[in-house]
Amino acid sequence: MTSKPRLLTGDRPTGRLHLGHYVGSLANRVRLQHQYDSFFIIADLHTLTTKPEREYIKEVPTFIRETVLDYLAVGIDPNVSTIFVQSAVPETFQLNLLFEMLVTVPRLERMPTLKDMARDANMDSMPFGLLGYPVLQAVDILLPRAQAVPVGRDNQSHVELAREMARRFNNLYGEVFPEPEPIIGDVPLLVGTDGQNKMSKSLNNAIYLSDDAETVKQKVMNMYTDPKRLRATDPGTVEGNPVFIYHDAFNPSYAEVDDLKERYRQGKVGDVEVKEKLARAINNFLEPIREKRAYFLAHPMIPRDVLANGIRRMQAEAKQTMELVREKTGLSYSFDLFTDEIDIFGEFDN
Ligand code: TRP
Repeated sequence: MTSKPRLLTGDRPTGRLHLGHYVGSLANRVRLQHQYDSFFIIADLHTLTTKPEREYIKEVPTFIRETVLDYLAVGIDPNVSTIFVQSAVPETFQLNLLFEMLVTVPRLERMPTLKDMARDANMDSMPFGLLGYPVLQAVDILLPRAQAVPVGRDNQSHVELAREMARRFNNLYGEVFPEPEPIIGDVPLLVGTDGQNKMSKSLNNAIYLSDDAETVKQKVMNMYTDPKRLRATDPGTVEGNPVFIYHDAFNPSYAEVDDLKERYRQGKVGDVEVKEKLARAINNFLEPIREKRAYFLAHPMIPRDVLANGIRRMQAEAKQTMELVREKTGLSYSFDLFTDEIDIFGEFDN
């Protein structure tokens, strides 16, 4: 067995992943996976907290497939990492119920994230399950007894809750869970092609890892730049300009980027040249990712086995954890009700 510390993180399956996901989390995971025994959860149950409808659930399998393909395409290596689907691990539901007893409603109402999630989903009041979103996330983290949880700032409060839940459980019942450490990625959120909001599927401002070269080119050519600059001869602003934010993120040629910035500031370059060079840089960055994705699409038994093996590995871990949980809490009695171990009806002769 491996002796590396264990890591867990993941995503809700909402479709194909985009450059914002890459910059914000995927790149970091690809780096970290060699230092940790890494578990990547595709958290389909979490999507139900705001979208419980059958029409939505119908789409989830496709979203799961896209997520697995994108993980593999960016270089998450199934030889060192475990990719699994949350709902395929029934112990998730079991531990969630026990954890619900260990946290108060006011504690959950203080979570800074949930009201925004309810508002974004156009919900006028909070479903019980959405209030429990961070409890379920604590289950995800603690079920494989993870020690490290790389997340963005937006999920920091959830990892803090998971630490509290681990402490609370261990105090009540005895040591089972390590207190997971957050690893907070301090990269700023990547702005979308609209230059207004963070890159996001729902805002239609995303460049996907699986977009073909022509689509990338079109999206880049339509990108928002400096709104005050009307002609190529007007001096432009580089700072905060999404075209240059992307150049800094994806163009490996510092010389080219510096030259473009210099000329942009002086009004000596047009948007078209800046954007054409950006489209080329992004396409060069995406090309190997697209190739890998196409390879896995053409050999579907590979991603299928990756997921099946990941699910099996996580199921085995979950079983071990729940055995320990049942033993420590005393809930193992339900297995023994009619055995000689305990007989609630006392001893009697047949
Ligand atoms: N809450 C994460 C998100 O914002 C998804 C998630 C679910 C997660 N379970 C997790 C992240 C466990 C880290 C660890 O989409």
